[in-house]
Amino acid sequence: MLIAAGGVGCLLFSSAAMAEAAAVRAAVQTCIEMGCQNVEVESDSLMLTRMINKEYAIDATLECFIYDIGLLVTQLGRVRFMFVKRNGNAIAHIVASHMEALSEYDGNYRMLSVFSSPFQLAFYNTTPNAFTLALRMGLTRSESLFRWVWEANRGNPVGENATLAFGEDGNLVLADADGRVAWQTNTANKGVVGFKLLPTGNMVLYDSKGNFVWQSFDHPTDTLLVGQSLRPGTINKLVSRVSETENKDGPYSLVMEPKGIFLYYKSKNSPKSILYSQLFTIEKGSLDHVTLNVAPDTDEGYAYDISLEYQVANSSSGGNAILARPKYNSTLTFLRLGIDGNVKLYTYYDKVDWRAWEVTFTLFDRDNSIWETECQLPERCGNFGLCEDSQCVACPSSKGLFGWSKACEPEKLASCAANSFHYYKVEGVDHFMSKYTRGTAIKETDCGKKCTSDCKCLGYFYNQDTSRCWIAYDLKTLTKVANSTHVAYIKTPNQ
Ligand SMILES: *[C@@H]1O[C@H](CO)[C@@H](O)[C@H](O)[C@H]1NC(C)=O
Ligand SMILES: *[C@@H]1O[C@H](CO)[C@@H](O)[C@H](O)[C@H]1NC(C)=O
Ligand SMILES: *[C@@H]1O[C@H](CO)[C@@H](O)[C@H](O)[C@H]1NC(C)=O
Ligand SMILES: *[C@@H]1O[C@H](CO)[C@@H](O)[C@H](O)[C@H]1NC(C)=O
Repeated sequence: MLIAAGGVGCLLFSSAAMAEAAAVRAAVQTCIEMGCQNVEVESDSLMLTRMINKEYAIDATLECFIYDIGLLVTQLGRVRFMFVKRNGNAIAHIVASHMEALSEYDGNYRMLSVFSSPFQLAFYNTTPNAFTLALRMGLTRSESLFRWVWEANRGNPVGENATLAFGEDGNLVLADADGRVAWQTNTANKGVVGFKLLPTGNMVLYDSKGNFVWQSFDHPTDTLLVGQSLRPGTINKLVSRVSETENKDGPYSLVMEPKGIFLYYKSKNSPKSILYSQLFTIEKGSLDHVTLNVAPDTDEGYAYDISLEYQVANSSSGGNAILARPKYNSTLTFLRLGIDGNVKLYTYYDKVDWRAWEVTFTLFDRDNSIWETECQLPERCGNFGLCEDSQCVACPSSKGLFGWSKACEPEKLASCAANSFHYYKVEGVDHFMSKYTRGTAIKETDCGKKCTSDCKCLGYFYNQDTSRCWIAYDLKTLTKVANSTHVAYIKTPNQ
């Protein structure tokens, strides 16, 4: 069981009354999500009903449930809690069982009581006993999928009986059962008086003047919500998740730099991150911040523009890079750098009662390559493959092209001594780095020498029209191009 202490929520049930209290809490929450005005909650626990109605003193074990219920009730119109004999709580239990919705990465989760529609704080895990404290987006009533839009402790999970405590000193601390601190806001003695989740999905710690001492918007992982910004310094990037099951930093990053927003791939083999795409660039000055923004296009709101709004430092100039233009209120949107290095916008439309999510933008798109085709994704074709029209078509080898499969690999080199390998040539291909990095202006033979003398080089790419050379430490996805003057030379062992 995970316990969240300090008035933040409670999850430990050790009695029937606690389970009942949790069911009542779930029922009240569902009512909030459904927008009910007048609510009657029936319970067969006389004790619980009397405590909620302030007729009995509140039992210590039920205190935090009743506290939660009290908070939730303030978001409803009129609520009555009534005692009924036997099975009167059937509805509450049915509602509670329907709270089991699917979540991203196939995670299991335990909700906390911090809620602001359509966001809620929760613990989730994709491997046993490794929990991430996260903010989910999505409502039970309108969509079965919860998406995790902010995370406190990526790469540093907590186990059973971990606690989330909001201390009297104003620090919010996530600690393991043995006291090990996994994550904290570092806001002790900084004048923090309260903690709340805003309807934008920003979780804030504020001082007595209402200023934010800490906000989750300043700590993105792979997701940017509407209103959230990237800024130079520590808040300048998003980093992909490594896999569905493992919540650690992956190889992709989306970085705000002075001249634009760029996408990088970093592998173990490569000494430097490789630029593989960009979202937008500016000519003059340097960026001060970039914010995900949604605004109705006209007063009537027929269309909404979802854009990256930017401001140039020390200047009145700025602009909007429009990514999508849905024809409905798309205020509830986030941008995600995916596990595969793709960038998508997910829009949640809470007016519809199922399938409320829609992907409103895809940077690397199979069907609509205004921006990029899937072939430009470094790992689209796994470890090695030739990509054409967003499909992996062939596996290059020293014996020619073979049909592609996930198992395609470059041939293993026994050694990197120059007399142990030779090159085979593939015509009409580009490496994923060729599009955004200029390559070095050297002769084709010198390009070859450079690769031969570099142990980590697996092959080189040459554009005979522009005399540009690229050294590849990772082959991954090669893209088929019409022009046969774009050539690749891949190392293969001598037999
Ligand atoms: C968690 O706490 C409960 C109740 O105190 C205890 O029974 C259980 O063994 C603990 N689990 C772990 C893994 O520490
Ligand atoms: C903007 O102006 C401030 C103050 O003059 C200066 O410190 C800062 O370096 C400038 N920033 C950029 C990006 O030019
Ligand atoms: C659009 O949706 C947001 C979020 O649900 C809501 O706050 C806003 O009022 C809506 N705008 C209009 C014009 O309905
Ligand atoms: C290849 O590119 C060069 C230079 O851009 C051009 O002159 C040539 O016609 C192209 N060849 C093909 C087959 O498209």
